[in-house]
Amino acid sequence: MRDAPIGIFDSGFGGLTVARAVLDQLPHEPVLYLGDSARQPYGPKPIGEVREYALECLDHLVGRGVKVLVIACNSASAAVLRDARERYEVPVVEVILPATRRAVAASRNGHVGVICTEATAVSQAYEDAFAAAPQITLHTQPCPLFVEFVERGITSGPELLTVAFEYLAPLVDQSIDTLVLGCTHYPLLTGVLSYVLGDDVTLVSSADETAKDVYRLLVRHRMQRPAATSPPVHRFLTTGQPKEFRALGQRFFGPELDRVDQFSWVGV
Ligand code: DGL
Repeated sequence: MRDAPIGIFDSGFGGLTVARAVLDQLPHEPVLYLGDSARQPYGPKPIGEVREYALECLDHLVGRGVKVLVIACNSASAAVLRDARERYEVPVVEVILPATRRAVAASRNGHVGVICTEATAVSQAYEDAFAAAPQITLHTQPCPLFVEFVERGITSGPELLTVAFEYLAPLVDQSIDTLVLGCTHYPLLTGVLSYVLGDDVTLVSSADETAKDVYRLLVRHRMQRPAATSPPVHRFLTTGQPKEFRALGQRFFGPELDRVDQFSWVGV
Protein backbone atom coordinates (compact mmCIF):
# COMPACT_ATOMS: atom_id res chain seq x y z
CA MET A 1 0.00 0.00 0.00
CA ARG A 2 2.85 2.42 0.76
CA ASP A 3 4.07 1.99 -2.83
CA ALA A 4 0.65 2.72 -4.32
CA PRO A 5 0.26 6.08 -6.08
CA ILE A 6 -1.46 9.19 -4.80
CA GLY A 7 -4.54 9.65 -7.00
CA ILE A 8 -5.11 13.24 -8.06
CA PHE A 9 -8.22 14.26 -9.95
CA ASP A 10 -9.22 17.52 -11.60
CA SER A 11 -11.56 18.71 -14.33
CA GLY A 12 -8.46 19.29 -16.45
CA PHE A 13 -5.30 21.28 -15.85
CA GLY A 14 -5.73 23.22 -12.60
CA GLY A 15 -5.11 20.15 -10.47
CA LEU A 16 -1.59 20.10 -11.85
CA THR A 17 -0.85 23.04 -9.51
CA VAL A 18 -1.82 20.71 -6.66
CA ALA A 19 0.21 17.81 -8.12
CA ARG A 20 3.20 20.16 -8.41
CA ALA A 21 2.88 21.25 -4.77
CA VAL A 22 2.44 17.63 -3.60
CA LEU A 23 5.53 16.43 -5.44
CA ASP A 24 7.62 19.40 -4.28
CA GLN A 25 6.93 18.27 -0.72
CA LEU A 26 6.81 14.50 -1.31
CA PRO A 27 9.24 13.79 -4.18
CA HIS A 28 9.37 10.03 -3.57
CA GLU A 29 5.66 9.51 -4.09
CA PRO A 30 4.25 8.25 -7.38
CA VAL A 31 1.25 10.21 -8.68
CA LEU A 32 -1.62 8.98 -10.84
CA TYR A 33 -3.30 12.07 -12.27
CA LEU A 34 -6.63 12.09 -14.08
CA GLY A 35 -7.75 15.28 -15.82
CA ASP A 36 -11.25 15.21 -17.27
CA SER A 37 -10.29 17.74 -19.95
CA ALA A 38 -12.79 16.39 -22.49
CA ARG A 39 -15.64 17.57 -20.24
CA GLN A 40 -14.04 20.68 -18.77
CA PRO A 41 -14.66 23.37 -17.72
CA TYR A 42 -16.66 22.24 -14.71
CA GLY A 43 -16.93 25.79 -13.35
CA PRO A 44 -19.93 26.96 -15.44
CA LYS A 45 -21.81 23.63 -15.17
CA PRO A 46 -24.71 22.81 -12.81
CA ILE A 47 -23.46 21.28 -9.59
CA GLY A 48 -25.33 17.97 -10.20
CA GLU A 49 -23.49 17.45 -13.47
CA VAL A 50 -20.12 18.27 -11.89
CA ARG A 51 -20.91 15.76 -9.16
CA GLU A 52 -21.72 13.00 -11.63
CA TYR A 53 -18.49 13.52 -13.60
CA ALA A 54 -16.36 13.87 -10.48
CA LEU A 55 -17.64 10.66 -8.89
CA GLU A 56 -17.08 8.78 -12.14
CA CYS A 57 -13.43 9.90 -12.22
CA LEU A 58 -12.85 9.32 -8.51
CA ASP A 59 -14.37 5.82 -8.71
CA HIS A 60 -11.94 5.10 -11.51
CA LEU A 61 -8.89 6.24 -9.54
CA VAL A 62 -9.96 4.16 -6.55
CA GLY A 63 -10.42 1.18 -8.88
CA ARG A 64 -6.79 1.58 -9.90
CA GLY A 65 -5.64 1.14 -6.33
CA VAL A 66 -4.53 4.61 -5.24
CA LYS A 67 -3.65 4.97 -1.56
CA VAL A 68 -5.07 8.48 -1.18
CA LEU A 69 -7.56 10.43 -3.27
CA VAL A 70 -6.97 14.12 -3.85
CA ILE A 71 -9.85 16.10 -5.32
CA ALA A 72 -7.69 18.82 -6.82
CA CYS A 73 -10.54 20.95 -8.14
CA ASN A 74 -12.61 23.41 -6.16
CA SER A 75 -15.73 22.95 -8.27
CA ALA A 76 -15.57 19.15 -7.88
CA SER A 77 -14.71 19.37 -4.17
CA ALA A 78 -17.72 21.64 -3.68
CA ALA A 79 -19.94 19.13 -5.50
CA VAL A 80 -18.88 15.97 -3.65
CA LEU A 81 -17.56 17.33 -0.36
CA ARG A 82 -20.34 15.86 1.73
CA ASP A 83 -20.20 12.25 0.59
CA ALA A 84 -16.77 11.51 -0.92
CA ARG A 85 -15.35 10.52 2.46
CA GLU A 86 -18.19 8.07 3.09
CA ARG A 87 -18.06 6.60 -0.40
CA TYR A 88 -14.40 5.54 -0.40
CA GLU A 89 -12.29 3.48 1.95
CA VAL A 90 -9.09 5.32 1.04
CA PRO A 91 -8.56 8.72 2.70
CA VAL A 92 -9.89 11.67 0.70
CA VAL A 93 -8.25 15.10 0.64
CA GLU A 94 -10.07 17.98 -1.01
CA VAL A 95 -9.14 21.61 -1.57
CA ILE A 96 -11.77 23.62 0.31
CA LEU A 97 -11.20 22.82 3.98
CA PRO A 98 -7.38 23.17 3.96
CA ALA A 99 -7.62 26.63 2.37
CA THR A 100 -10.39 27.65 4.76
CA ARG A 101 -8.30 26.70 7.81
CA ARG A 102 -5.33 28.70 6.58
CA ALA A 103 -7.47 31.76 5.79
CA VAL A 104 -9.10 31.70 9.23
CA ALA A 105 -5.66 31.56 10.84
CA ALA A 106 -4.25 34.30 8.59
CA SER A 107 -6.98 36.94 8.76
CA ARG A 108 -6.39 39.83 11.16
CA ASN A 109 -9.49 41.92 10.53
CA GLY A 110 -11.99 39.09 10.00
CA HIS A 111 -12.76 39.97 6.36
CA VAL A 112 -11.87 37.14 3.99
CA GLY A 113 -12.52 37.01 0.25
CA VAL A 114 -12.90 33.90 -1.89
CA ILE A 115 -12.55 34.00 -5.66
CA CYS A 116 -13.84 30.96 -7.51
CA THR A 117 -15.88 29.54 -10.41
CA GLU A 118 -19.65 29.89 -10.70
CA ALA A 119 -20.17 26.24 -9.65
CA THR A 120 -18.19 26.73 -6.45
CA ALA A 121 -19.98 30.01 -5.66
CA VAL A 122 -23.45 28.51 -6.26
CA SER A 123 -22.66 25.46 -4.11
CA GLN A 124 -22.00 27.71 -1.06
CA ALA A 125 -19.28 25.22 -0.09
CA TYR A 126 -16.98 27.95 1.24
CA GLU A 127 -19.86 29.54 3.19
CA ASP A 128 -20.44 26.13 4.81
CA ALA A 129 -16.75 25.65 5.54
CA PHE A 130 -16.36 29.13 7.08
CA ALA A 131 -19.49 28.68 9.21
CA ALA A 132 -17.26 27.03 11.82
CA ALA A 133 -15.45 30.39 12.21
CA PRO A 134 -18.20 32.90 13.06
CA GLN A 135 -15.62 35.66 13.65
CA ILE A 136 -14.98 35.69 9.87
CA THR A 137 -17.14 37.56 7.37
CA LEU A 138 -16.81 35.90 3.99
CA HIS A 139 -17.06 37.75 0.67
CA THR A 140 -17.40 35.41 -2.32
CA GLN A 141 -16.64 36.62 -5.84
CA PRO A 142 -17.02 34.37 -8.89
CA CYS A 143 -14.36 35.14 -11.51
CA PRO A 144 -15.36 33.00 -14.52
CA LEU A 145 -13.03 34.63 -17.03
CA PHE A 146 -9.88 33.86 -15.04
CA VAL A 147 -9.88 30.18 -16.09
CA GLU A 148 -10.19 31.20 -19.75
CA PHE A 149 -7.28 33.62 -19.46
CA VAL A 150 -5.02 31.04 -17.86
CA GLU A 151 -5.94 28.44 -20.48
CA ARG A 152 -5.13 30.92 -23.24
CA GLY A 153 -1.70 31.28 -21.63
CA ILE A 154 -2.47 34.84 -20.47
CA THR A 155 -1.30 35.50 -16.91
CA SER A 156 -0.31 39.17 -17.34
CA GLY A 157 -1.06 42.12 -19.61
CA PRO A 158 -3.61 44.94 -19.80
CA GLU A 159 -6.66 42.84 -20.73
CA LEU A 160 -6.27 40.58 -17.69
CA LEU A 161 -5.45 43.53 -15.44
CA THR A 162 -8.68 45.33 -16.38
CA VAL A 163 -10.75 42.23 -15.62
CA ALA A 164 -8.88 41.65 -12.35
CA PHE A 165 -9.58 45.21 -11.18
CA GLU A 166 -13.29 44.70 -11.97
CA TYR A 167 -13.59 41.36 -10.20
CA LEU A 168 -11.60 42.41 -7.15
CA ALA A 169 -13.16 45.87 -6.64
CA PRO A 170 -16.03 44.59 -4.44
CA LEU A 171 -13.52 42.70 -2.28
CA VAL A 172 -11.32 45.79 -1.92
CA ASP A 173 -14.45 47.77 -0.92
CA GLN A 174 -15.03 45.23 1.86
CA SER A 175 -11.44 45.71 3.12
CA ILE A 176 -10.53 42.02 2.93
CA ASP A 177 -7.09 41.23 4.36
CA THR A 178 -7.00 37.60 3.15
CA LEU A 179 -7.98 36.11 -0.20
CA VAL A 180 -8.57 32.41 -0.86
CA LEU A 181 -7.67 31.37 -4.40
CA GLY A 182 -10.68 29.08 -4.63
CA CYS A 183 -9.88 27.58 -8.00
CA THR A 184 -6.85 25.48 -8.84
CA HIS A 185 -6.04 27.62 -11.89
CA TYR A 186 -5.50 30.74 -9.81
CA PRO A 187 -2.00 30.06 -8.43
CA LEU A 188 -0.85 31.08 -11.93
CA LEU A 189 -2.41 34.50 -11.32
CA THR A 190 -0.72 35.44 -8.03
CA GLY A 191 1.27 38.16 -9.83
CA VAL A 192 -1.76 40.07 -11.06
CA LEU A 193 -3.77 39.37 -7.89
CA SER A 194 -1.15 40.75 -5.54
CA TYR A 195 -0.52 43.65 -7.92
CA VAL A 196 -4.18 44.67 -7.66
CA LEU A 197 -4.65 43.90 -3.94
CA GLY A 198 -1.26 44.96 -2.59
CA ASP A 199 1.05 43.27 -0.11
CA ASP A 200 -1.27 43.69 2.86
CA VAL A 201 -3.66 41.08 1.53
CA THR A 202 -2.54 37.51 2.21
CA LEU A 203 -3.15 35.14 -0.71
CA VAL A 204 -4.08 31.59 0.29
CA SER A 205 -3.44 29.01 -2.41
CA SER A 206 -5.63 25.94 -2.19
CA ALA A 207 -2.87 24.03 -4.02
CA ASP A 208 -0.24 24.68 -1.32
CA GLU A 209 -2.64 24.10 1.55
CA THR A 210 -3.91 20.85 0.05
CA ALA A 211 -0.36 19.58 -0.43
CA LYS A 212 0.29 20.21 3.26
CA ASP A 213 -2.79 18.13 4.11
CA VAL A 214 -1.57 15.28 1.90
CA TYR A 215 1.84 15.44 3.60
CA ARG A 216 0.28 15.41 7.07
CA LEU A 217 -1.97 12.49 6.18
CA LEU A 218 0.81 10.29 4.80
CA VAL A 219 3.11 10.97 7.74
CA ARG A 220 0.43 10.48 10.39
CA HIS A 221 -0.80 7.22 8.90
CA ARG A 222 2.70 6.00 8.03
CA MET A 223 1.74 5.72 4.38
CA GLN A 224 4.88 7.34 2.95
CA ARG A 225 6.81 5.44 0.34
CA PRO A 226 10.36 4.72 1.55
CA ALA A 227 12.81 7.26 0.10
CA ALA A 228 15.47 4.67 -0.69
CA THR A 229 13.41 2.78 -3.30
CA SER A 230 13.63 3.41 -7.06
CA PRO A 231 12.46 6.78 -8.44
CA PRO A 232 8.68 7.08 -8.56
CA VAL A 233 6.86 6.61 -11.84
CA HIS A 234 4.10 9.16 -12.43
CA ARG A 235 1.21 8.73 -14.81
CA PHE A 236 -0.83 11.53 -16.29
CA LEU A 237 -4.13 10.64 -17.93
CA THR A 238 -6.47 12.94 -19.78
CA THR A 239 -9.92 12.29 -21.19
CA GLY A 240 -9.02 14.88 -23.86
CA GLN A 241 -6.14 15.08 -26.31
CA PRO A 242 -2.75 14.08 -24.79
CA LYS A 243 -0.78 16.44 -27.04
CA GLU A 244 -2.81 19.46 -26.01
CA PHE A 245 -2.79 18.37 -22.39
CA ARG A 246 0.98 18.11 -22.39
CA ALA A 247 1.48 21.51 -24.03
CA LEU A 248 -0.73 23.47 -21.64
CA GLY A 249 -0.05 21.15 -18.70
CA GLN A 250 3.62 22.11 -18.70
CA ARG A 251 2.59 25.69 -17.84
CA PHE A 252 0.98 24.33 -14.68
CA PHE A 253 3.32 21.50 -13.75
CA GLY A 254 6.66 22.29 -15.36
CA PRO A 255 8.72 20.60 -18.07
CA GLU A 256 8.73 17.27 -16.21
CA LEU A 257 5.23 16.70 -17.54
CA ASP A 258 6.42 14.56 -20.37
CA ARG A 259 4.28 11.57 -21.13
CA VAL A 260 0.51 11.96 -21.15
CA ASP A 261 -1.85 9.09 -21.98
CA GLN A 262 -5.37 9.24 -23.24
CA PHE A 263 -7.99 7.82 -20.99
CA SER A 264 -11.25 6.61 -22.44
CA TRP A 265 -14.35 5.44 -20.60
CA VAL A 266 -14.84 2.74 -23.25
CA GLY A 267 -13.91 -0.63 -21.83
CA VAL A 268 -13.68 0.62 -18.24
N1 DGL B 1 -10.32 23.19 -11.64
C1 DGL B 1 -11.52 24.02 -11.58
C2 DGL B 1 -11.69 24.54 -10.15
O1 DGL B 1 -10.78 24.49 -9.33
C3 DGL B 1 -11.47 25.16 -12.57
C4 DGL B 1 -11.55 24.72 -14.01
C5 DGL B 1 -12.93 24.31 -14.45
O2 DGL B 1 -13.87 25.14 -14.40
O3 DGL B 1 -13.08 23.16 -14.82
O4 DGL B 1 -12.76 24.99 -9.83
